[in-house]
Amino acid sequence: MSRIVFLNGEWLPEADAKVSIFDRGFLFADAIYEVTGVIDGKLLEYEGHAARLKRSIAELGMHLPIPTEELLDVHREIVRRNALKEGLIYLQLSRGPADRDFAFPQEPKPTLVLFTQAKSVIDNSKLATGLSVALLPDWRWERRDIKTVQLLYPSMAKMQAAEKGADDAWLVEDGFVTEASSATAHVIDRTGKLITRPLSNAILHGITRASVLDIAEQAGILYEERAFTPDEAKNAAEAFITSATNFVMPVTRIDGAPVGDGKPGPLTLKLRELYIANKTASAI
Ligand code: PDD
Repeated sequence: MSRIVFLNGEWLPEADAKVSIFDRGFLFADAIYEVTGVIDGKLLEYEGHAARLKRSIAELGMHLPIPTEELLDVHREIVRRNALKEGLIYLQLSRGPADRDFAFPQEPKPTLVLFTQAKSVIDNSKLATGLSVALLPDWRWERRDIKTVQLLYPSMAKMQAAEKGADDAWLVEDGFVTEASSATAHVIDRTGKLITRPLSNAILHGITRASVLDIAEQAGILYEERAFTPDEAKNAAEAFITSATNFVMPVTRIDGAPVGDGKPGPLTLKLRELYIANKTASAI
């Protein structure tokens, strides 16, 4: 079924939505994005994603081509027009088309695109076994806090992980895990404490991460924000990732070695359950 997508204020069948070959998103990866989860036709964590989009826009001196107040309506309308029950909304904002020049254009005309992807996000086939991850060097740029579409290295890392028979990559820099290729990485130590890397330019400031830390606190699970090493991760009781579409997903193997007993951990599964219950209840 053909989707209806949003392009700069217009609703179009996906085949009719065209962007210039001079778009800086295409030529320079001069673009940012957000992914918002949808369950039962409602948006999860919309406010967090909108706030991070605003931050990315400010960091790169971009601007939205529509009033910010209309963004929520656009999200709701795209769900309605596509009768989306479960999946995600992808939003991308680029600096727009301009003749090729490294310098930003004086009068940019930004390109704003939204489309939906229907996907089963609650019933994830990987839940039964958990994910296996391969450790790879983090060769991304140093402003990972900005959600840009410079996703070539994360794509390469996923491909390399797959070649090693793993589901995903955990990236390592200066002897510490930064994050997964497209999710936040966490471990639970043998005392039951959740360890997660603190916010900095080294990682994306995950919206799911922030909520999971709040939920852990409410559930009496202690957490500590500090960088952890690959060895610590391998010796942890549990490991997991968080993201808008994975929610909380167990990681049960790191470079082929089992984490804990090699099965999805009980605290991880509890956090997943609490996260989904809490965020579907507050979905808009
Ligand atoms: N990825 N770190 C990276 C590098 C990510 O790409 C993502 C999300 C996260 C988790 O952020 P959040 O909890 O706000 O989704 C962390 C999205 C889902 C993607 O690229 O598809």
